[in-house]
Amino acid sequence: MSNKVALVTGITGQDGAYLLKLLMSKGYVVHGLRRRVSVPTTQRIDEYIFAPQEHHNEFHLHYGDLTDGLSLTRIIQRIQPDEIYNLGAQSHVHVSFDSPEYTADVNGLGTLRILEAIRNLDLTHKTRFYQASTSELYGKIQSPQQSESTPFYPRSPYAVAKLFAYWTVINYREAYGLYGCNGILFNHESAMRGTSFVTRKITYTLSRIAYGLIDKLYLGNMNALRDWGHARDYVEMQWLMLQQEQPEDYVIASGERRSVREFVEVAAREIGFSIEWRGQGVDEVGLVSEVDPEKIGATFGKGRFKLKPGDEIVNIDPYYFRPTEVDVLWGDASKAREKLNWSPKTSFLELVSEMVAEDLEQARKQVVVNQYE
Ligand code: NAP
Ligand code: GDD
Repeated sequence: MSNKVALVTGITGQDGAYLLKLLMSKGYVVHGLRRRVSVPTTQRIDEYIFAPQEHHNEFHLHYGDLTDGLSLTRIIQRIQPDEIYNLGAQSHVHVSFDSPEYTADVNGLGTLRILEAIRNLDLTHKTRFYQASTSELYGKIQSPQQSESTPFYPRSPYAVAKLFAYWTVINYREAYGLYGCNGILFNHESAMRGTSFVTRKITYTLSRIAYGLIDKLYLGNMNALRDWGHARDYVEMQWLMLQQEQPEDYVIASGERRSVREFVEVAAREIGFSIEWRGQGVDEVGLVSEVDPEKIGATFGKGRFKLKPGDEIVNIDPYYFRPTEVDVLWGDASKAREKLNWSPKTSFLELVSEMVAEDLEQARKQVVVNQYE
């Protein structure tokens, strides 16, 4: 068991929650950065917060913000971390077009502020740094499959800010000898994914539609192709990158690409029905085609499944189109496989199945609550 000290920014997010679990299982003392919000966003890590007797020596939360360099310096000075995982970000690509300056501040300058704190506190040779870089850097792709050597072409304020952070890490590595790594992670999902990202939006909404809680799923570009993996598998790589002799940058990906439309079809099948597409462009709609009575009976029980063949449940809403879209992402994680012996454990079908199961359970509970209110 390790007795290392880690600081995790973005600890309340999807990856933060999985990484916390991993680091705790390895015996780390974990410090997390949380920002002040009017309603707490700690749901994903509440099991650690509400068990202080079990975790009070190993887990600590600190108020601070990636836009506030003084808070970052104060926390880093106090805890003298062996490792910092910078997962905090305004992580929504579409939102970054509405808030470009804020996104640049958090995702770009936020990284610089941490690195400057490490440098000014003379921790460059003690503290190892992980940067949550992203496949969004490839944007308008310059090669059909993307690896560490593929040129970048960012297509959103989010990606442009992440590009600044990416190069800042490399510059601090070369200029000051910092052990800093970029994990260039392709999309990774889970039942803990925020509901405004497309995969979780699909499993969350379809589950509620199946129980009759809502009527429709509104989507944007269903032709976009993404390389989706499971967040649990990907945080393991974040940790592994900081345990090597030399700091390097790695692509983490499943090596499979699928469309948003296919994700909808697979999620629907996991619930127990198939989808038929009709129309073109913004007029395309998704209808319930066939229902699998056995699966529906086993999951829903009598009378709770509210759909029948012919019901129109998917529509296009141009609101979700982006001013510049990333049409295709497809990763080549050969370097991670060869150098770190890493490959994803969870298949695409297992990922969708896990997300659907969790969302069906949540929807079922909501129906029960509604019944007794
Ligand atoms: P997420 O669920 O959206 O979590 C983002 C985290 O950042 C949350 O804890 C959030 O806090 C925190 N945060 C936002 N603004 C902040 C600020 N100003 N100061 C401090 N913390 C702030 O994202 P994720 O999916 O876990 O992704 C983790 C990181 O990996 C992000 O940097 C993301 O850009 C990057 N990434 C993600 C993927 C992916 O597919 N998931 C792929 C490549 C790269 P609140 O809870 O208070 O909002
Ligand atoms: N969010 C969303 N909502 N996306 C939609 C929708 C919708 O209703 N309909 C279609 N899409 C398309 C988007 O246009 C995009 O092409 C694709 O679905 C995936 O969108 P997101 O799930 O929002 O993820 P992302 O790929 O833009 O960004 C995520 O992955 C990046 C790594 O490639 C985020 O987690 C980023 O933080 C991360 O860096």
